[in-house]
Amino acid sequence: MSGEATGSNQSVGEPSSVTRHGPAGVLGRLFGQFGRPSGLLGHLAGVLMARSTADDQWVVELLDVQPDDRVLEVGFGPGVAVTLLAERARVGFVAGVDPSEVMLRQAVRRNRAAVRAGRVELRLGTVSALPYPDAHFTKACAIHSLYFWPSVEAGLRELHRVLAPGGLLALAVRMQRPQAGRFDPSRYGFTDEQVAAVVATLSLIGFRDVSTQRKAFRGETLAAILARR
Ligand SMILES: C[S@@+](CC[C@H](N)C(=O)[O-])C[C@H]1O[C@@H](n2cnc3c(N)ncnc32)[C@H](O)[C@@H]1O
Repeated sequence: MSGEATGSNQSVGEPSSVTRHGPAGVLGRLFGQFGRPSGLLGHLAGVLMARSTADDQWVVELLDVQPDDRVLEVGFGPGVAVTLLAERARVGFVAGVDPSEVMLRQAVRRNRAAVRAGRVELRLGTVSALPYPDAHFTKACAIHSLYFWPSVEAGLRELHRVLAPGGLLALAVRMQRPQAGRFDPSRYGFTDEQVAAVVATLSLIGFRDVSTQRKAFRGETLAAILARR
């Protein structure tokens, strides 16, 4: 997906909120749902997110998932990337946490067979307290979720904890285009400074080989930040 649309024009580590920065009215309320979908509008937001899969595909490719990888996705939304990850981690394991019950239902439905087979485990939760032991995963990702974390640094520390030494992390965010229209999510993406702050925080925490890549999709630019535990 890809439909986050909140105001992330704050410093990294602070929560963002479309109610403060985004458009008003019914469309504004729909936009606001991308941060933690709930109710009918949240369901609709999930349906919209699931319609664009190019971002998920890019991140999954960057993670270079191997058949025996154990992969965690934080903020799985409607579960599109979970499907792609589980197709690749055929004899491994895919887990996900998301605080939204509506997203949990959609993602479980989308991945029902793999969940039943025990190859995929999806749970309610947040990046601030990941319900997994230390060094449990070989790969981890968060796609269009960072904007909503109450503390990016605390979330990255949790990801560092649950990744095994050498494990790979991929974070994807949309870049901000201030001139974009009110209902264009690019208006509410990360600035260059916010991406640089995430890179600096990763290094501070102890991640290594931190790098960034950019890719243009449908007239907007995505940034992927890669780092090794
Ligand atoms: C814009 S959606 C992106 C969903 C999916 N990754 C995608 O790209 O389609 C953001 C997701 O992050 C989740 N989220 C919000 N705050 C979170 C937190 N503190 N920890 C983990 N996930 C969070 C939301 O519930 C939502 O499902």
